[in-house]
Amino acid sequence: MRYLIGIDIGTSGTKTVVVDETGRVKARAVAEYPLYTPKPQWSEQEPEDWWQATCRTVREVLEKAGIDAGDVAGIGLSGQMHGSVFLDENHQVIRPALLWNDQRTQNECDWITDTVGRDRIVALLSNPVLTGFTAPKILWLRNHEPERYARVRRVLLPKDFVRYRLTGEFATEVSDASGTALFNVKERTWAWEVLDAIGIPRDWMPAVYESPEVSGRITEAAATATGLRPGTPVVGGGGDQAAGAVGNGIVQTGVVSSTVGTSGVVFAFSDTPVVDPQLRLHTFCHAVPGKWHLMGVMLSAGGSLQWYRDTFCQAEQTVAATVGRDPYELICAGAATAPAGSEGLIFLPYLTGERTPYPDPNARGVLFGLTRRTNRAHVARAILEGVAYGLNDSFLIMQGLGVPIREVRASGGGARSALWRQILADVTGHAHVTINVDEGPAFGVALLAGVGTGVYPSVEAACAATIQPVDRTEPCTVNHAAYRRLHAVYQALYAHLKEDFATVTQLING
Ligand code: XUL
Repeated sequence: MRYLIGIDIGTSGTKTVVVDETGRVKARAVAEYPLYTPKPQWSEQEPEDWWQATCRTVREVLEKAGIDAGDVAGIGLSGQMHGSVFLDENHQVIRPALLWNDQRTQNECDWITDTVGRDRIVALLSNPVLTGFTAPKILWLRNHEPERYARVRRVLLPKDFVRYRLTGEFATEVSDASGTALFNVKERTWAWEVLDAIGIPRDWMPAVYESPEVSGRITEAAATATGLRPGTPVVGGGGDQAAGAVGNGIVQTGVVSSTVGTSGVVFAFSDTPVVDPQLRLHTFCHAVPGKWHLMGVMLSAGGSLQWYRDTFCQAEQTVAATVGRDPYELICAGAATAPAGSEGLIFLPYLTGERTPYPDPNARGVLFGLTRRTNRAHVARAILEGVAYGLNDSFLIMQGLGVPIREVRASGGGARSALWRQILADVTGHAHVTINVDEGPAFGVALLAGVGTGVYPSVEAACAATIQPVDRTEPCTVNHAAYRRLHAVYQALYAHLKEDFATVTQLING
């Protein structure tokens, strides 16, 4: 039997899975690491933590699965998108990586857009330049840490740093490259005109592959660190959203995913590079060769509930630890006791600014509508509902663009909660389906590794062989009608507060 390994360098941790050639998950392992917020709007991680987590989880899955490393046909890499790893001439990391949810770069975004010209940016990138994307992070380093910038020789995305440590190759693939604001999404190549115009050396960019293509092989040093066999092929893989979409079977028109991880993402497959005229959705290359996708990204979806758990739910955490349950289960059980609509308590989930539908680094979280009746259950439910309203913003934009939505597949940690799935179905009015595998991007890139090494003939065939819907949550029409009215209030709140968010940011930042 041949095996495939998928490694996902996530924001809260790295997850690694071993899958056999029938798609059965033989073992999984997760290793967490810290996220640093040294200043408001900043978000950073240490690339070395990703590498150590990769080594630990690969060793663990090989041991748990009880397989010979020589039977691993291929490895796929996935990861949080957009982050910037800066390497010096000795290929050493220069500073912590700036992450996808870091919001410090609005000035650099404006400068790139002015310098290249907005029309040219859209023609070349198919997207606007947003604070989370990679190019403005490079320019932030040039503007704010010039000594460090002077030492940069390479810029890599998070999973591609791990690829470098595994294979010695500087490489990426089209889906993750799409989120750099340096990539020509329609042509699936670097946008050299943009790099030249903003003064980023061409040779800092890695080679680009299609996602299932072999990009390198495990080195002797990496084999010693991980327990893998030297020479094992590593395929391009995918940014976590495209990889998660493969792992969810989002490889045909009409099947859309709704993913609640730290971020919240609505993802639709596309045969062609469709661009939202208002640029609210991203148009990126898919991990399916020659295909694209449209997606809306909220920055704090599961991240909002994680913040609530960590900040206010010590009691649930203590009880959960005592009875051996997940604190989120207890929080959601509490939320289920509040009525739909949380008696008018509305949560705006903009804890780290927002991207879709408002590319606004200044946006903040809001709990609107507190009364003397408000209790913990209302607050927990309002958070679940606020995230659902945010995802519904993307669904509505897609519907407005005529994107077909036949089936919605719910995934990510949030989809494990039956209550949250019901709220998502009720708010959006779309039935939410779950599938037989719940491993997200790590599973998706294991399938891509199977395609690249001949285990499966194509990405579509890999998905067809391994993924089936297992459960369907239908929307409740009464709740849907109520949520439509509340969603309008949710949208109006942002419009009313937009200027105040900017004022507060100015006051705080001085
Ligand atoms: C996608 C995005 C996030 C990160 C982290 O554009 O920013 O989904 O990839 O998951």
